[in-house]
Amino acid sequence: MSYIQNFNLYRNLVEEWISKRITVPDLPEKSLFEAMRYSLMAGGKRLRPVLSLAVCDMLEGNREDVMPFACAIEMIHAYSLIHDDLPCMDNDDFRRGKPTNHKVFGEAKAILAGDALLNTACEIMLDAVLADDKDTLGKAAAARIIMDAAGSAGMIAGQIIDLESEDAPISFEELCRMHSLKTGALIRASILSAARLCRADEKTWEALDRYGQYIGLAFQIKDDLLDCEGDAEVIGKSTGSDEKNHKSTYVTLLGIKKAKELLKETVEEAVKALKDLRNTDFLIKTAAYIAERER
Ligand code: IPE
Ligand code: IPE
Ligand code: MG
Ligand code: MG
Ligand code: MG
Repeated sequence: MSYIQNFNLYRNLVEEWISKRITVPDLPEKSLFEAMRYSLMAGGKRLRPVLSLAVCDMLEGNREDVMPFACAIEMIHAYSLIHDDLPCMDNDDFRRGKPTNHKVFGEAKAILAGDALLNTACEIMLDAVLADDKDTLGKAAAARIIMDAAGSAGMIAGQIIDLESEDAPISFEELCRMHSLKTGALIRASILSAARLCRADEKTWEALDRYGQYIGLAFQIKDDLLDCEGDAEVIGKSTGSDEKNHKSTYVTLLGIKKAKELLKETVEEAVKALKDLRNTDFLIKTAAYIAERER
Protein backbone atom coordinates (compact mmCIF):
# COMPACT_ATOMS: atom_id res chain seq x y z
CA MET A 1 0.00 0.00 0.00
CA SER A 2 1.35 3.47 -0.88
CA TYR A 3 1.74 6.16 1.76
CA ILE A 4 -1.28 8.08 0.45
CA GLN A 5 -3.44 4.95 0.38
CA ASN A 6 -2.42 4.19 3.94
CA PHE A 7 -3.16 7.78 5.04
CA ASN A 8 -6.57 7.66 3.35
CA LEU A 9 -7.39 4.35 4.96
CA TYR A 10 -6.75 5.82 8.41
CA ARG A 11 -8.63 8.98 7.50
CA ASN A 12 -11.69 7.06 6.32
CA LEU A 13 -11.79 5.05 9.55
CA VAL A 14 -11.71 8.31 11.50
CA GLU A 15 -14.42 9.96 9.38
CA GLU A 16 -16.69 6.97 9.81
CA TRP A 17 -16.23 6.86 13.58
CA ILE A 18 -16.83 10.60 14.02
CA SER A 19 -19.82 10.68 11.72
CA LYS A 20 -21.50 7.91 13.70
CA ARG A 21 -20.76 9.61 17.02
CA ILE A 22 -22.06 13.10 16.18
CA THR A 23 -25.54 12.92 14.69
CA VAL A 24 -28.32 15.50 14.51
CA PRO A 25 -31.20 14.56 16.84
CA ASP A 26 -34.77 15.67 16.21
CA LEU A 27 -34.81 17.98 19.24
CA PRO A 28 -35.33 21.73 19.71
CA GLU A 29 -31.54 22.12 20.14
CA LYS A 30 -30.78 20.38 16.83
CA SER A 31 -29.02 23.45 15.40
CA LEU A 32 -26.22 22.92 17.94
CA PHE A 33 -25.52 19.49 16.45
CA GLU A 34 -25.77 20.87 12.93
CA ALA A 35 -23.12 23.46 13.80
CA MET A 36 -20.90 20.80 15.38
CA ARG A 37 -21.22 18.50 12.37
CA TYR A 38 -20.70 21.37 9.93
CA SER A 39 -17.15 21.91 11.14
CA LEU A 40 -16.37 18.33 12.05
CA MET A 41 -17.34 16.86 8.69
CA ALA A 42 -15.96 19.69 6.55
CA GLY A 43 -13.03 17.74 5.13
CA GLY A 44 -10.07 18.38 7.41
CA LYS A 45 -6.86 16.49 6.77
CA ARG A 46 -7.32 14.46 10.00
CA LEU A 47 -3.58 14.51 10.58
CA ARG A 48 -3.82 14.16 14.37
CA PRO A 49 -6.04 11.05 14.54
CA VAL A 50 -4.15 9.57 11.60
CA LEU A 51 -0.94 9.91 13.62
CA SER A 52 -2.57 8.19 16.60
CA LEU A 53 -3.63 5.23 14.45
CA ALA A 54 -0.23 5.06 12.76
CA VAL A 55 1.54 4.93 16.13
CA CYS A 56 -0.90 2.23 17.22
CA ASP A 57 -0.09 0.11 14.15
CA MET A 58 3.62 0.76 14.56
CA LEU A 59 3.46 -0.54 18.13
CA GLU A 60 1.13 -3.39 17.13
CA GLY A 61 -1.59 -2.09 19.42
CA ASN A 62 -5.35 -2.42 19.15
CA ARG A 63 -6.93 0.21 16.88
CA GLU A 64 -10.26 -0.03 18.68
CA ASP A 65 -8.61 1.07 21.92
CA VAL A 66 -6.96 4.06 20.28
CA MET A 67 -9.83 5.25 18.05
CA PRO A 68 -11.95 7.07 20.70
CA PHE A 69 -8.91 9.04 21.85
CA ALA A 70 -7.84 9.80 18.28
CA CYS A 71 -11.33 11.11 17.47
CA ALA A 72 -11.52 13.07 20.73
CA ILE A 73 -8.36 14.91 19.64
CA GLU A 74 -9.94 15.69 16.26
CA MET A 75 -12.98 17.17 18.06
CA ILE A 76 -10.75 19.33 20.23
CA HIS A 77 -8.92 20.42 17.08
CA ALA A 78 -12.24 21.27 15.34
CA TYR A 79 -13.41 23.32 18.34
CA SER A 80 -10.10 25.19 18.45
CA LEU A 81 -10.48 26.17 14.80
CA ILE A 82 -14.09 27.37 15.21
CA HIS A 83 -12.97 29.65 18.03
CA ASP A 84 -9.72 30.63 16.24
CA ASP A 85 -11.76 31.95 13.29
CA LEU A 86 -14.12 34.12 15.38
CA PRO A 87 -14.10 37.88 14.80
CA CYS A 88 -12.60 38.41 18.28
CA MET A 89 -9.71 36.10 17.36
CA ASP A 90 -8.40 35.81 13.79
CA ASN A 91 -11.63 36.99 12.15
CA ASP A 92 -11.50 34.61 9.21
CA ASP A 93 -14.30 33.86 6.75
CA PHE A 94 -13.14 30.61 5.15
CA ARG A 95 -12.03 27.27 6.49
CA ARG A 96 -11.68 24.01 4.56
CA GLY A 97 -13.12 25.71 1.49
CA LYS A 98 -16.35 26.69 3.21
CA PRO A 99 -17.59 29.73 5.15
CA THR A 100 -16.39 29.58 8.76
CA ASN A 101 -18.77 28.30 11.43
CA HIS A 102 -19.76 31.74 12.73
CA LYS A 103 -20.49 32.94 9.19
CA VAL A 104 -23.11 30.23 8.84
CA PHE A 105 -24.49 29.84 12.36
CA GLY A 106 -23.67 33.19 13.97
CA GLU A 107 -21.09 33.90 16.65
CA ALA A 108 -23.08 32.72 19.66
CA LYS A 109 -23.80 29.31 18.14
CA ALA A 110 -20.24 28.96 16.90
CA ILE A 111 -18.95 29.51 20.42
CA LEU A 112 -21.42 26.99 21.81
CA ALA A 113 -20.66 24.44 19.09
CA GLY A 114 -16.97 24.75 19.97
CA ASP A 115 -17.74 24.34 23.68
CA ALA A 116 -19.86 21.28 22.95
CA LEU A 117 -17.14 19.68 20.82
CA LEU A 118 -14.66 20.05 23.67
CA ASN A 119 -17.18 18.57 26.06
CA THR A 120 -17.94 15.70 23.69
CA ALA A 121 -14.23 14.91 23.47
CA CYS A 122 -14.12 14.49 27.26
CA GLU A 123 -17.29 12.37 27.22
CA ILE A 124 -15.84 10.07 24.57
CA MET A 125 -12.63 9.55 26.53
CA LEU A 126 -14.49 8.94 29.78
CA ASP A 127 -16.76 6.44 28.01
CA ALA A 128 -13.63 4.60 26.93
CA VAL A 129 -12.21 4.66 30.46
CA LEU A 130 -15.48 3.33 31.86
CA ALA A 131 -16.23 0.82 29.09
CA ASP A 132 -14.56 -2.12 30.86
CA ASP A 133 -11.82 -2.65 33.38
CA LYS A 134 -9.19 -3.36 30.75
CA ASP A 135 -6.25 -0.95 31.21
CA THR A 136 -8.36 1.69 32.95
CA LEU A 137 -5.23 3.42 34.18
CA GLY A 138 -3.66 3.57 30.72
CA LYS A 139 -6.82 5.06 29.22
CA ALA A 140 -7.09 7.64 32.00
CA ALA A 141 -3.43 8.53 31.47
CA ALA A 142 -4.01 8.95 27.72
CA ALA A 143 -6.95 11.26 28.44
CA ARG A 144 -4.76 13.28 30.79
CA ILE A 145 -2.07 13.65 28.11
CA ILE A 146 -4.68 14.96 25.68
CA MET A 147 -6.40 17.38 28.07
CA ASP A 148 -3.05 18.72 29.23
CA ALA A 149 -2.05 19.46 25.64
CA ALA A 150 -5.37 21.15 24.90
CA GLY A 151 -5.54 23.35 27.96
CA SER A 152 -3.85 26.18 29.78
CA ALA A 153 -0.48 24.40 29.67
CA GLY A 154 -0.82 23.72 25.95
CA MET A 155 -2.95 24.92 23.05
CA ILE A 156 -4.88 27.60 24.91
CA ALA A 157 -1.67 29.06 26.37
CA GLY A 158 -0.26 29.21 22.83
CA GLN A 159 -3.37 30.96 21.55
CA ILE A 160 -3.06 33.60 24.28
CA ILE A 161 0.58 34.27 23.38
CA ASP A 162 -0.46 34.40 19.71
CA LEU A 163 -3.07 37.08 20.45
CA GLU A 164 -0.77 39.09 22.65
CA SER A 165 2.02 38.99 20.08
CA GLU A 166 -0.11 40.85 17.52
CA ASP A 167 1.64 44.16 16.92
CA ALA A 168 4.15 43.29 19.67
CA PRO A 169 7.76 42.31 19.04
CA ILE A 170 8.49 38.73 20.07
CA SER A 171 11.82 36.92 20.22
CA PHE A 172 12.66 33.81 18.21
CA GLU A 173 12.61 31.72 21.41
CA GLU A 174 9.17 33.06 22.33
CA LEU A 175 7.90 32.32 18.84
CA CYS A 176 9.15 28.72 19.03
CA ARG A 177 7.47 28.28 22.40
CA MET A 178 4.21 29.80 21.12
CA HIS A 179 4.13 27.45 18.14
CA SER A 180 5.04 24.42 20.24
CA LEU A 181 2.11 25.23 22.50
CA LYS A 182 -0.62 26.35 20.12
CA THR A 183 -0.08 23.64 17.49
CA GLY A 184 2.72 21.34 18.60
CA ALA A 185 1.13 20.27 21.87
CA LEU A 186 -1.93 18.60 20.35
CA ILE A 187 0.08 16.92 17.59
CA ARG A 188 2.54 15.57 20.16
CA ALA A 189 -0.40 14.40 22.30
CA SER A 190 -1.89 12.48 19.37
CA ILE A 191 1.35 10.48 19.26
CA LEU A 192 1.97 10.10 22.99
CA SER A 193 -1.62 9.20 23.93
CA ALA A 194 -1.46 6.33 21.42
CA ALA A 195 2.00 5.37 22.71
CA ARG A 196 0.57 5.21 26.25
CA LEU A 197 -2.44 3.13 25.17
CA CYS A 198 -0.16 0.71 23.35
CA ARG A 199 2.24 0.51 26.30
CA ALA A 200 5.32 1.84 24.55
CA ASP A 201 8.55 1.17 26.44
CA GLU A 202 10.64 4.08 27.72
CA LYS A 203 13.04 4.22 24.79
CA THR A 204 10.20 4.21 22.26
CA TRP A 205 8.28 6.81 24.26
CA GLU A 206 11.22 9.19 24.35
CA ALA A 207 11.91 8.84 20.64
CA LEU A 208 8.25 9.39 19.77
CA ASP A 209 8.14 12.37 22.10
CA ARG A 210 11.04 14.01 20.27
CA TYR A 211 9.53 13.15 16.89
CA GLY A 212 6.18 14.63 17.99
CA GLN A 213 7.74 17.86 19.15
CA TYR A 214 9.63 18.34 15.90
CA ILE A 215 6.73 17.58 13.57
CA GLY A 216 4.41 19.74 15.68
CA LEU A 217 6.74 22.67 15.21
CA ALA A 218 7.26 21.86 11.53
CA PHE A 219 3.51 21.79 11.00
CA GLN A 220 3.07 25.36 12.20
CA ILE A 221 6.11 26.66 10.28
CA LYS A 222 4.49 25.25 7.16
CA ASP A 223 1.12 26.72 8.15
CA ASP A 224 2.78 30.15 8.41
CA LEU A 225 4.39 29.68 4.99
CA LEU A 226 1.10 28.60 3.42
CA ASP A 227 -0.67 31.61 4.92
CA CYS A 228 1.82 33.78 3.14
CA GLU A 229 2.45 32.03 -0.18
CA GLY A 230 -0.15 29.26 -0.43
CA ASP A 231 -3.05 29.08 -2.87
CA ALA A 232 -6.27 30.03 -1.03
CA GLU A 233 -8.31 27.73 -3.32
CA VAL A 234 -6.13 24.77 -2.40
CA ILE A 235 -5.66 25.41 1.32
CA GLY A 236 -9.35 26.23 1.72
CA LYS A 237 -8.76 29.23 3.98
CA SER A 238 -8.06 32.86 3.22
CA THR A 239 -4.36 33.56 2.80
CA GLY A 240 -2.81 36.69 4.29
CA SER A 241 -4.65 36.23 7.58
CA ASP A 242 -1.44 36.56 9.61
CA GLU A 243 -0.43 39.75 7.83
CA LYS A 244 -3.92 41.23 8.24
CA ASN A 245 -3.75 40.57 11.99
CA HIS A 246 -0.10 41.68 12.36
CA LYS A 247 0.82 38.26 13.76
CA SER A 248 4.28 37.19 14.77
CA THR A 249 5.14 34.17 12.61
CA TYR A 250 8.20 32.38 11.30
CA VAL A 251 7.77 34.26 8.07
CA THR A 252 7.59 37.72 9.68
CA LEU A 253 10.51 36.97 12.00
CA LEU A 254 12.83 35.09 9.65
CA GLY A 255 11.57 35.74 6.14
CA ILE A 256 10.43 33.05 3.71
CA LYS A 257 13.86 31.66 2.81
CA LYS A 258 15.03 31.13 6.40
CA ALA A 259 11.62 29.81 7.46
CA LYS A 260 11.92 27.17 4.71
CA GLU A 261 15.42 26.23 5.83
CA LEU A 262 14.22 25.85 9.39
CA LEU A 263 11.29 23.74 8.22
CA LYS A 264 13.69 21.41 6.43
CA GLU A 265 15.98 21.13 9.47
CA THR A 266 13.03 20.50 11.79
CA VAL A 267 11.76 17.67 9.60
CA GLU A 268 15.26 16.16 9.48
CA GLU A 269 15.44 16.24 13.28
CA ALA A 270 12.03 14.54 13.47
CA VAL A 271 13.24 11.72 11.24
CA LYS A 272 16.48 11.40 13.21
CA ALA A 273 14.50 10.95 16.41
CA LEU A 274 13.09 7.70 15.00
CA LYS A 275 16.40 6.15 14.00
CA ASP A 276 16.48 3.40 16.65
CA LEU A 277 12.84 2.36 16.28
CA ARG A 278 11.25 -0.22 13.98
CA ASN A 279 8.23 0.10 11.63
CA THR A 280 8.78 3.84 11.24
CA ASP A 281 8.11 4.12 7.50
CA PHE A 282 4.72 5.84 7.82
CA LEU A 283 5.94 8.32 10.43
CA ILE A 284 9.03 9.19 8.38
CA LYS A 285 6.85 9.85 5.32
CA THR A 286 4.46 11.90 7.44
CA ALA A 287 7.30 14.19 8.48
CA ALA A 288 8.09 14.77 4.80
CA TYR A 289 4.40 15.22 3.98
CA ILE A 290 4.12 17.99 6.58
CA ALA A 291 6.82 20.00 4.84
CA GLU A 292 5.58 19.31 1.31
CA ARG A 293 1.83 19.66 1.81
CA GLU A 294 -0.04 22.27 -0.18
CA ARG A 295 -2.99 22.47 2.23
C1 IPE B 1 -4.85 24.20 11.06
O1 IPE B 1 -4.75 22.82 11.29
C2 IPE B 1 -4.55 24.95 12.30
C3 IPE B 1 -3.24 24.73 12.88
C4 IPE B 1 -3.08 24.16 14.03
C5 IPE B 1 -2.06 25.19 12.17
P1 IPE B 1 -4.88 21.80 10.08
O2 IPE B 1 -4.08 22.29 8.93
O3 IPE B 1 -4.57 20.42 10.58
O4 IPE B 1 -6.41 21.91 9.71
P2 IPE B 1 -7.39 20.87 9.00
O5 IPE B 1 -7.97 20.05 10.11
O6 IPE B 1 -6.64 20.02 8.04
O7 IPE B 1 -8.42 21.74 8.35
C1 IPE C 1 -4.19 28.24 15.07
O1 IPE C 1 -3.12 28.78 14.39
C2 IPE C 1 -3.81 27.17 15.94
C3 IPE C 1 -4.94 26.74 16.79
C4 IPE C 1 -4.71 26.34 17.97
C5 IPE C 1 -6.31 26.76 16.34
P1 IPE C 1 -3.55 29.63 13.11
O2 IPE C 1 -4.47 30.73 13.49
O3 IPE C 1 -2.33 29.97 12.34
O4 IPE C 1 -4.38 28.53 12.30
P2 IPE C 1 -5.11 28.82 10.92
O5 IPE C 1 -4.05 29.30 9.97
O6 IPE C 1 -6.18 29.83 11.19
O7 IPE C 1 -5.64 27.48 10.50
MG1 MG D 1 -4.85 31.90 15.15
MG1 MG E 1 -6.24 31.36 12.44
MG1 MG F 1 -2.20 29.97 10.22
